[in-house]
Amino acid sequence: MTGIDSAFLSPENQNVTDIDRLYADLEVSARRLGLASRTLGLVGGYPILLLTREADTKLPRGLVAGGFHGDEPAGPWGIARFLRETDTSVFKQTALSFLPLINPTGLRAGTHCNDWDENPNRFFIHTQGPDKTPSHEGAVLTQYLPLLLRAARDGFISLHEDSGMEAFYAYTFEQGGKPGVFTEKLLSAGTAHFPLQKDGPLYPPEPDTVQNGVVFNLHDGTFEDLLFDSGVPRTACTETPGKRPIGDRVATAQGIIETFAQLLAEG
Ligand code: NI
Repeated sequence: MTGIDSAFLSPENQNVTDIDRLYADLEVSARRLGLASRTLGLVGGYPILLLTREADTKLPRGLVAGGFHGDEPAGPWGIARFLRETDTSVFKQTALSFLPLINPTGLRAGTHCNDWDENPNRFFIHTQGPDKTPSHEGAVLTQYLPLLLRAARDGFISLHEDSGMEAFYAYTFEQGGKPGVFTEKLLSAGTAHFPLQKDGPLYPPEPDTVQNGVVFNLHDGTFEDLLFDSGVPRTACTETPGKRPIGDRVATAQGIIETFAQLLAEG
């Protein structure tokens, strides 16, 4: 790619709400990498895409999601940058799949929720009462749950941002009752550009409390909670700090995906 194109596509030089450019960028990368692009459903006229590489089923399988929340652009753009810059060798070691943008109407508007004011990462499990149902986006993901569970067989990461923060933290879910190497490596990737969030409650009276940079095994009804509850052995929601420069946040999201791929390859 020429220097001019790289500058055009770099997050510092573009409007992060320009989802037409995001979809176009993903399409170019998918073609280059030989990824199959499947539309799971339409939300507000935009597709929820699943990008997969048909691969040896013996390879470790992992799923990467971005853009559950529209005001957290580093996830989708970090996935786009990872796919733009990686070579095909990563797909010889792992069967990685991507849900690059869950909430297109939110990203386009720069809002946390979707156009219907629903939070797309809630109510996958009935932790807040049986009357609560998933969002438009959540209904699409739920419809394809068996497919997504196969894609996420050995792990799942969802790239989020916390718009109020200057430091990095993550929600992780691991078997064995305490954070292991999965959590440790993700925190290490997340703090390449940022400090680690201090211990303590994030949003009292909510139960989310950070200890050593992580909120661990919190049963909160999110998609990462659902996948862990459904048997995926390790899942995470990473939170890059939204108050820091977008370029560092996109680079961090890209680094988190690279770390996740290494973790999968190492078994
Ligand atoms: Ni979020």
